[in-house]
Amino acid sequence: MENGTSDFFNLKELPHVVRALDRNLKVQENILNVIGNTPIVKLNKIPKQEGIQCDMYAKCEFLNPGGSVKDRIAYRMVLEAEQKGILIPGKSVIIEPTSGNTGIGLALASAVKGYRCIIVLPEKMSDEKVNTLKALGAEIIRTPTEAASSSPESNINVALRLSKEIPNAVVLDQYNNPCNPLAHYDGTAEEILWSLDDDVDMVVIGAGTCGTVSGVGHKIKERCPKCIVVAVDPHGSILAEPEELNKSDVEIYQVEGIGYDFLPRTLDRKIIDKWIKTDDTASLQMSRRLIKEEGLLCGGSSGAAMCAAVQAAKSLKAGQKCVVLLPDNIRNYMTKFISDQWMEAQNFKPIPKNDKLWWWNKTLDEDDDLIQPIKSLPNNTSTDEAVSALRENKASVISIVDNKGSISGVITADNTRMRLANLDGSFTEKLEKFIVKKYYKVDLSNSPTLGAVSRILDIARFVIVVKTDKSNIQKPIGVITSENLLSYVTNKGNQVNGK
Ligand SMILES: Cc1ncc(COP(=O)(O)O)c(C=O)c1O
Repeated sequence: MENGTSDFFNLKELPHVVRALDRNLKVQENILNVIGNTPIVKLNKIPKQEGIQCDMYAKCEFLNPGGSVKDRIAYRMVLEAEQKGILIPGKSVIIEPTSGNTGIGLALASAVKGYRCIIVLPEKMSDEKVNTLKALGAEIIRTPTEAASSSPESNINVALRLSKEIPNAVVLDQYNNPCNPLAHYDGTAEEILWSLDDDVDMVVIGAGTCGTVSGVGHKIKERCPKCIVVAVDPHGSILAEPEELNKSDVEIYQVEGIGYDFLPRTLDRKIIDKWIKTDDTASLQMSRRLIKEEGLLCGGSSGAAMCAAVQAAKSLKAGQKCVVLLPDNIRNYMTKFISDQWMEAQNFKPIPKNDKLWWWNKTLDEDDDLIQPIKSLPNNTSTDEAVSALRENKASVISIVDNKGSISGVITADNTRMRLANLDGSFTEKLEKFIVKKYYKVDLSNSPTLGAVSRILDIARFVIVVKTDKSNIQKPIGVITSENLLSYVTNKGNQVNGK
């Protein structure tokens, strides 16, 4: 996959497939037929509360059958590859690196059309996406979130490697495939223009592969040149500021589907009038508002787009029209930002107050006896040794530290058993494969309360306690389980109550 240096596609000259803008056929041939033709819904409460003068509309891409805007490009790429004889049903194997939603779209098309489908996605992406993919019959390969796109470990390079190893494999390659922006040029943009009678003053669209913003941008500018095209890019991504392309450290953010550390060929910077950077907290809080206040059951990047739209639409006057595209649906995030406890654990939301419990607001101290000591092993330990340590310590969790003593993950009995059951019953794989990176921790240097620990234990089997020093080393201090917290608060509670 190239690195954004080639010219953008000439969308006008490519072959077009524009569907009738009416989905109300009595019976549809199959589920792929109902991709697209999503509704545009007026936004009411949020624009009013934010003092917006113009009319704001949501393009509800989360109502696509696979749950996202990416159904459109997945189906379009499959259809075109079939027409060209690149994909042969029953024979070809579809392999794609994705942040999940393109994978779901491809798995949906594969289920209906009969392809084997292998999806390669970073660990950051939600388990809900993985379970949906599996239910659709796709095979999943996870890659480290922190792997830069150019590294051999990245989902892009793993997919390319697999495509060379597996017979009849085809990578449709959403990052370079003109069908990606074309699906939006012919579909999404036509629909927006139809809904608003070719009169749109602003579109606000999250930027991932940038197929949506580039394809919609091109068609809308052709038919409505006054329209301002706004692209939304999270902090930690380089799409808005390509001069950061050579930044060595990859900054991790939680919102899924937007932002990259390289410039995809499917991005046309010339069509974008304005870039707005967004952050996790405001984005995910805005997603929760879209759900609660507007009844739009959308995902995290929808909140990012809405945050940017609220900012950008302040420049529009009464009577003007701003469309914000909501790419995916709540289903992908049921255990993530839809969970209050998850939001609190990430510091995206305050812990609820509880004045009735003596211990709720108590700060966790390093010498509190509810913190159980945790064994730490260096990350170059062999898998066999680490598993023996789990066994000998009768511990359910051990921390793994880098050469500076900073925690880089944990190994747990649960995960190790699961991997063992899913492998061939041996520990021949490197320890790296057994390390869990998604776990919950509290940092003593932030003075966490027992209430905060208790809220995390609502959704996790344990909380790791760490302490960050001045040189940013996160030293593992211990671990707390529900049993530890329960016995601490009941024992101490008896003392407090004089029993
Ligand atoms: C949830 C979500 N939002 C936004 C996007 C960005 O869309 P695009 O790749 O067209 O830029 C994606 C792409 O995968 C996505 O999954």
